[in-house]
Amino acid sequence: MKIWQNPIWRAATAVLLLSAAACGTESSEAEDADVHLADDAGDVAEDADGSADADDASGVSVPNYYSHIRPMMAARCNECHVEDAIAPMALDSYEGIKEMGRLALGAMETGVMPPWPPAEECGPPLKNRRHISEEEIAVFREWVEAGYPEGEPSDAPPPERDENAPVFDRGEPDLTLDWGFEYTPEPPLAEAVDDYRCFVIDPELNEDQFLNAVRTRPGNTRVVHHALVYSVSEDQAARLEQLEAEDERPGYTCFGGPRTSDPWLLSGWVPGTMPLEFEEGHGVRIEAGSKIVVQMHYNTVNDTEGSDRSLFDLYFVDQETTSRVTELVIIPLAELGLQIEAGDPDAVAVEEGPEIPLPLTLHGVAPHMHLLGKSIKVTAQTGAGEVCLMDIPEWDFNWQGFYLFEEPQVLVPPVLPRLECRYDNSPANQPDGRAPQEVRWGEGTYDEMCLNYFIVERPPGL
Ligand code: HEC
Repeated sequence: MKIWQNPIWRAATAVLLLSAAACGTESSEAEDADVHLADDAGDVAEDADGSADADDASGVSVPNYYSHIRPMMAARCNECHVEDAIAPMALDSYEGIKEMGRLALGAMETGVMPPWPPAEECGPPLKNRRHISEEEIAVFREWVEAGYPEGEPSDAPPPERDENAPVFDRGEPDLTLDWGFEYTPEPPLAEAVDDYRCFVIDPELNEDQFLNAVRTRPGNTRVVHHALVYSVSEDQAARLEQLEAEDERPGYTCFGGPRTSDPWLLSGWVPGTMPLEFEEGHGVRIEAGSKIVVQMHYNTVNDTEGSDRSLFDLYFVDQETTSRVTELVIIPLAELGLQIEAGDPDAVAVEEGPEIPLPLTLHGVAPHMHLLGKSIKVTAQTGAGEVCLMDIPEWDFNWQGFYLFEEPQVLVPPVLPRLECRYDNSPANQPDGRAPQEVRWGEGTYDEMCLNYFIVERPPGL
């Protein structure tokens, strides 16, 4: 747990200040393809509004399934709502969405679907934002109220993009991480549906590499709920092997992190996330000799029997052809002393980082709490005033993200980062029907965290 303590942040700051290395750092997530989808879907909505082919007698356009709803579902929902994906029902057929019509409308109106926790008002624009516009919801509402007109398959607009075209076209990865066997998730508690497993993989790196892109390829999308990739230093490897040896099942059980003292987050994936891709020449350092730990969150609601063997394609910065690598570092800020009283419906934990006297180029953030978390907000006091960096007003453990900004943000010194976490520890909000208890920092399911990772560039020349 030492890793999360403020001294680490200070040490990282010291590295920023003192390091003589000429590299910068960064980590990222993949979100570009979502942006394209979102743009496409915006067009779809406009088409829907503008098209006259479904006009009724009064001249008012009545949306129908093939012309309007089907393309909307494809753009906004079906990355998750198809057969064999993580969502419980498929919405890619007329029958499928008709059956769910009112519920789907409600989910869109309340903002529950598509899932996208960050508040729009806070922070710079994010890559891969999932959203559905008010106009699109209005079209959907009209369709529901008109009694789900089906229209003709021949009315369907041509797909907005070639569905066979790869969204991520990077060719062969430099390295594919594979833990090497089919794993059958098994929740440790009889009533539970979640299994958190860590697998240790040796990337066999002889020299430091800079991770530029990660493509997560879930083996079984019915059970993989999220996957985090960490690097762990060589001297922690023995401890990890011991954890694997002590666990009766393959890998080892883990919830809040890989259970070592120095894990470095490299990437995170939840369903619907595009491959993580940093800008050209940018990368997160993976040291020679380090091990990789992948933390898998399995959810067995859809499939209690299925097994999984997920793969992770890594792409490194080509150090031979890149004149200057921009190194990204992923620095945690955490409130380790958090203490949440039993029964408290609105406990607050706040942590402020040390003041950083340098401009910081911030590429993104990744906030993290566990199951009692209600909301989390990341801000910074800077030389140019306070900036809001991320606000998740309704924290949902299942939809945590590794959020990259569309444009890196330069924070004017002095920079004082701040993190505010709220928790509901009332009887009504207890996992697995437990009685409320005092909760402190820890990696266990019933422990809590108040943590944010800052994805920053190491300043050039330092
Ligand atoms: C990124 C994945 C993802 C996307 C995109 C997505 N969903 Fe979902 N949806 C889920 C999952 C997973 C569930 C199951 C509940 C949960 O885990 O939140 C769900 C549940 C639902 C439910 C049931 C909610 C309830 O109250 O029981 C509806 C209805 C729904 N989605 C509709 C939609 C619609 C309509 C869209 C598009 C506008 C959409 N979803 C987009 C993943 C997604």
